[in-house]
Amino acid sequence: MSRVTITVNGVKVHGNSREPLLNQLEKAGFQPEYQCRNGMCGACRCQLTTGAVDQQDSMAFIAPNEVLACCSTPKTDVELEFSYQLAQQENKKAI
Ligand code: FES
Repeated sequence: MSRVTITVNGVKVHGNSREPLLNQLEKAGFQPEYQCRNGMCGACRCQLTTGAVDQQDSMAFIAPNEVLACCSTPKTDVELEFSYQLAQQENKKAI
């Protein structure tokens, strides 16, 4: 599946199954927290409440229901919950 729907803190956006979630969220106008972008720091972690991802090996600690947005690529439609308010730029459209 190439096209997927990413629901982030209740907002749906178009996504794909080729790029890491962090890149896709940024393209959709969100500004998730990050530092290393390679699975070391854990700053980008979020809850995966629905769906499945391919996650590359990482060093950061995450809980069993969490994923690292910087190194996880959606395999299906996914629902993500960040533990903080995630603003979306107005010029980017949700679906
Ligand atoms: S930004 Fe550091 S683990 Fe994702």
